[in-house]
Amino acid sequence: MTFSRNILITGGAGFIGSHVVRLFVEKYPDYRIVNVDKLTYAGNLENLRDVAQRPNYIFVKADICDHERMNELMRRYAVDGIIHLAAESHVDRSILDPFAFARTNVMGTLSLLQAAKVYWESQPEKYAGKRFYHISTDEVYGALELSRPQGGADGHGPYGDELFTETTRYTPHSPYSASKASSDHFVRAFHDTYGMPTIVTNCSNNYGPNQFPEKLIPLCIDNIRHGKPLPVYGKGENVRDWLYVEDHARAIDTIFHRGRIAQTYNIGGNNEWRNIDIVELIVETVDRLSGNPEGYSEQLITFVPDRAGHDLRYAIDSSKLHTELGWAPAVRFEEGIEKTVRWYLDNQEWTDRITSGQYKEYYRRMYGE
Ligand code: NAD
Ligand code: TYD
Repeated sequence: MTFSRNILITGGAGFIGSHVVRLFVEKYPDYRIVNVDKLTYAGNLENLRDVAQRPNYIFVKADICDHERMNELMRRYAVDGIIHLAAESHVDRSILDPFAFARTNVMGTLSLLQAAKVYWESQPEKYAGKRFYHISTDEVYGALELSRPQGGADGHGPYGDELFTETTRYTPHSPYSASKASSDHFVRAFHDTYGMPTIVTNCSNNYGPNQFPEKLIPLCIDNIRHGKPLPVYGKGENVRDWLYVEDHARAIDTIFHRGRIAQTYNIGGNNEWRNIDIVELIVETVDRLSGNPEGYSEQLITFVPDRAGHDLRYAIDSSKLHTELGWAPAVRFEEGIEKTVRWYLDNQEWTDRITSGQYKEYYRRMYGE
């Protein structure tokens, strides 16, 4: 079978990556999608069980830091487009082990960029028709003021006048955001130095099915199920802008195909929430869908010491993406949370296998260490 495009997606076994892989495999049967993932603790092929047998899908277990392997994959699959999501992604882990973040997020991105450069420059048409699309985060911009603590008219933001735009100065605070900022700079440097056709997008907090249960929303859903405390850092007043993961995947599809080379696009939900309000919404939703009496899980909410260097507020201005490419989020937050809670309640074994470590053992046996 010949394919019209050969796209390498890194980190496709993770949360966002699995939604992107599914969208591309299903929407573009004439593209070959090569999912390259190391299957770290956060990678789970169960996320892609429904598309694993498709003729246009290939999974390769590999570390993006393995430069020779990346060279070989570029050649073997004649890759003409890269969508790069593989990363260490959890801020709390970055505080404990920053080296792992520098390794994968910085050196891994550089290893992939260099492999793309070597392969594409060896082709007669060079960079024509090629694309290196790097997925990044709004956390590189640092933190915004919380100048309107009560929020706007609907009670959920904006919590301040300022928003992150594509020209906001990079001011990362956590080892995670510092490593992502560094990788963003390397990607832009490969455009400016070698002429590689690159694009960078910086997205706000994602939520939805298949998110690893160490992140706020799935952690709370799982802890309520087990009657465990819901840890709210500090006073719960930190604000994040939340986007449903399928909306992010749609944005990635749009930008990969129609975004302008060398540009940055911010992607956000225009949907600011304080952490404490989210936890309360989850408590209400889980209790209602589980048939618990109203307020049943409320007493699980537990204020714990704040995260070190905890950014106060993130809020994204995605008007450039809206104006240029017509993208807008489609899923309202209350609707997205309802879908997400339902998914976790209907797929309890997915979380249970992760928390029990069973799935890791399965893939270790299947693919080796
Ligand atoms: P995730 O932790 O769920 O998934 C990361 C995936 O990358 C996993 O499958 C893991 O096995 C793989 N991986 C890690 N190190 C690797 C390596 N060295 N080689 C190959 N594969 C490796 O992360 P996510 O939440 O899906 O985030 C995906 C990307 O989107 C990241 O680049 C992240 O910075 C970015 N992002 C995430 C959010 C969010 O809210 N989750 C928001 C904006 C941007
Ligand atoms: P998280 O899901 O880790 O995403 P990020 O740190 O990338 O924004 O956290 C979202 C917000 O929730 C963040 O302000 C930290 C807070 N938080 C808690 O209050 N308790 C928790 O147990 C976790 C994991 C996060």
